[in-house]
Amino acid sequence: MVSHNASGTKWSMTEKDFKPGFPTEIVEEGRGKFLVPKLAAFVKSPSDYAPSKAPVFYNPVMELNRDIAVLALQAYQRMVNHAVSVCEPLTGCGIRGVRFATEVNSVKKVVINDISERSCQIAKQNVHMNRLEKKVTVKHEDANLLLSKHSAPHKRFDAIDIDPFGSPVHYIDSTVRALRNHGLLALTATDMAPLCGVHPKACIRKYGGKPLRTEYCHELAVRLLAGCLATTAAKHEMSINVVFSHSADHYVRFYAFIEYGAKKADDSLKNMGYVLHCFKCFHRESVTGLSVIEHSGKCSECGSKLSVGGPMWLGKLFDKNFCDLMEIEAGHAKFRHEKRIEKTVALAKNEIDMPVGYFVIDKLCDALSLPVPSVKRVIEALRKEGFQTSPTCFNPKGVKTDASAAKMRELLQQMMNAESKNLI
Ligand SMILES: C[S@@+](CC[C@H](N)C(=O)[O-])C[C@H]1O[C@@H](n2cnc3c(N)ncnc32)[C@H](O)[C@@H]1O
Ligand SMILES: [Zn+2]
Repeated sequence: MVSHNASGTKWSMTEKDFKPGFPTEIVEEGRGKFLVPKLAAFVKSPSDYAPSKAPVFYNPVMELNRDIAVLALQAYQRMVNHAVSVCEPLTGCGIRGVRFATEVNSVKKVVINDISERSCQIAKQNVHMNRLEKKVTVKHEDANLLLSKHSAPHKRFDAIDIDPFGSPVHYIDSTVRALRNHGLLALTATDMAPLCGVHPKACIRKYGGKPLRTEYCHELAVRLLAGCLATTAAKHEMSINVVFSHSADHYVRFYAFIEYGAKKADDSLKNMGYVLHCFKCFHRESVTGLSVIEHSGKCSECGSKLSVGGPMWLGKLFDKNFCDLMEIEAGHAKFRHEKRIEKTVALAKNEIDMPVGYFVIDKLCDALSLPVPSVKRVIEALRKEGFQTSPTCFNPKGVKTDASAAKMRELLQQMMNAESKNLI
């Protein structure tokens, strides 16, 4: 990362007298150089979250997220095989949108937008610094207004990337209306407390589904968000097909294709349903369908009352062709986090056909007072017994499998017994 000029009030590079009025620096990301707020200047106490303290939003930690966004857009462009138009209605400094224009082949235009005037000024500067005035337009309006202006048939975009603070729900309706048939939608949510079940009422209010505070809540967060998208899209007679998902501690994100058609929307809604979880013995199951659930409500393993989460998206969270294309494109691109990206895509490919949810080995061993084996060893043991299994991109300690909770308990116990025999 290169940085200079952090003096604050005055800034001049190649541009004439551009004065952001706050400390800035130049960083390199992807194939571009960007003017961003100098975050260190805005941190007053160790608990301050620098990106939200600066006058214009910039989060260096999200570079990996932006790399994956570039990769996914490139995979999408290869799939549709025509020049694409892109919109990033919540752009901050404009880094993501500028990177789309610089790094993705056959991007014909990018519209970036922010409600903050200062963001727009910085974004314009970044467009200029990267010599993209012909390709990238900076708008300064409310995202919903901008998207609504693009909802007429010939004004729609091929791809829209929604990357807000907190929840993206306020923008979902206008986003699907501004997408072309077969368009790509990328959605980030950072409101993990509602989505992971800490504030269930807020989740029901925003996403229309009940969350579960389980160890696989990051996957359920994606499913709740995707469920919200599927039901909103269905109102406009559109279907969704989720092609890639990932998460980190503070966000979840997924990519989905939108397809027009009432029948397709009906079919898409068939992927909605409920997850039933036993907080006593770790048993979980999913029930597809939006009508009243036909279920005893009792855990089939221990008889306890099951907790119900949903309705949410129970369909696929990854698409094999899309992941293959991402993998190929990652081989051609040059990202700072190359290895992490390769790992994320490889993990995703492994879990395409796996059941909903995963077991977090630490959590299970903790409850059973057992030592914690590695994920690799658990996977090997499950495979040996003929179960389907894979690690998961949602949690490094997670194991996806079609084995029951009872089988998992038994297997961990056996592993511990074998270990202690070896020690004697
Ligand atoms: C998380 S930041 C975006 C980060 C950016 N996508 C990136 O990759 O660096 C969210 C941005 O949304 C903008 N914003 C918030 N509400 C908005 C609205 N209603 N319309 C347009 N922009 C809005 C904020 O000013 C902020 O810059
Ligand atoms: Zn149970």
